[in-house]
Amino acid sequence: MAENRVTFGSKLGVILATVGCAVGLGSVWRFPYMLGTNGGAAFLLVYILFTIFLGLPVMITEFFVGRHSRSNTVGSFKKLAPGTRWSWIGYNGILAAFLILSYYSVVSGWTLEYVWQTLNGSLYGSGAADYTEGFEAFSSDPFRPIFWTAVFIGLTHFVIVSGVDKGIERASKVMMPLLFLILVVMCVRSVTLPDAEAGLVYLFKPDLSKLTSSVVLSALGQAFFTLSLGMGCLITYASYFSKDTNMQATAWQVTLINTFVAVLAGVMIFPAVFSFGIEPSAGAELVFITLPNVFEQLPLSFLWSLIFYILLAMAALTSTISLHEVATAYVLEEFHLSRRKAAWIVSIGVFLLGIVSSLSFGVLKEWTIGGLTFFEAVDYLTAKIMLPLGGMLTCIFVGTRIDKKVLKAELTNQGTVKFYLFSTYVFFMKYVAPAAIGIVFLNELGVLDFLFKGTR
Ligand code: TRP
Repeated sequence: MAENRVTFGSKLGVILATVGCAVGLGSVWRFPYMLGTNGGAAFLLVYILFTIFLGLPVMITEFFVGRHSRSNTVGSFKKLAPGTRWSWIGYNGILAAFLILSYYSVVSGWTLEYVWQTLNGSLYGSGAADYTEGFEAFSSDPFRPIFWTAVFIGLTHFVIVSGVDKGIERASKVMMPLLFLILVVMCVRSVTLPDAEAGLVYLFKPDLSKLTSSVVLSALGQAFFTLSLGMGCLITYASYFSKDTNMQATAWQVTLINTFVAVLAGVMIFPAVFSFGIEPSAGAELVFITLPNVFEQLPLSFLWSLIFYILLAMAALTSTISLHEVATAYVLEEFHLSRRKAAWIVSIGVFLLGIVSSLSFGVLKEWTIGGLTFFEAVDYLTAKIMLPLGGMLTCIFVGTRIDKKVLKAELTNQGTVKFYLFSTYVFFMKYVAPAAIGIVFLNELGVLDFLFKGTR
């Protein structure tokens, strides 16, 4: 089995595919939305700290597990620790992939609607208030968003059944650099709007009094979400790496590119938010109600808008592919089904859940779980609980069950490439990451508060 597993074609292919997996709506849509609902720059600061000090070590650890075992998320733990419950990390991951894909496809569907509205000319010419109203009318519609969700899952499904190397690699190679370029253009337009400065201050000047436990948890969730960590996505990808992929370098590249894209997205969104008097804490709709205003201020707005939403949809697609692949690879290898059958099972299941997520912007708006709509609740459960938990357990697994020599041999490609600061990495993976994630959890639950008040 292991011998005939497909691998990514080239060095660039590895990076592009992994960047494609990481960069998506998480940076462009979720990051501004989270930053806006968590008080601004303080969130950015914590998010960047978590990315470097927790995200990076967790990413390298997942790369290790994936390439060392050459197996899917569940299979890898079964292979490395047969007969133990460690494979539950994998099950947590499969479930998370499935849940994330369901609401992620809904938002991806929104990008298709915006492609469509740009094409038929109905999007532009109204102004901030109307863009909000227009979005709300669309997202609360019982049919349209579900139609686009179905289209999007269909696209993902098509790439998945057409094969790993061809599908994923080809898609990533063309689109990612282009998206990057257009983000830069949008940033320039946004920061030259009247009163853009307020947005930059909001984004970059931290007000530490805003740092609450829920801001910290949100930043942790965001770091894991945008880097695709904690659910075995990167385990599955790394299982397709070749034996001479430099995993430390790849992890750095993916992390830096991804963080850079998120910051660009912030620079694109917040100056415009303040310039047009939009509420930064508008929530999931923030990016969708802000951007049309910026496009309207560009010459040839139609063209920019069209290209942008197509590219955003593509960036989302390279991420949904990765999520779908995790679930499909599992179903296929564990139940010995054909790729086609496995993919159908995943697609249909995801669509059914996606319907509920989509309806939670309309007819199911009032149906809340702990104050969160279904969409928000699934997002909360996955990003803020399942992913950090999965990452924490993966680190504990590798830290306690894997011989350092084996770890080092794998990470240095049997001594052929250098792994810088190996013992620092081990320290962060084994102690810092699990402890920090544990502390954030306890803090959110109010346990720390309780303890400290008790001793005062
Ligand atoms: N990281 C992607 C984004 O930012 C989404 C994503 C893809 C993801 N695969 C994942 C999130 C695995 C968590 C886990 O858009």
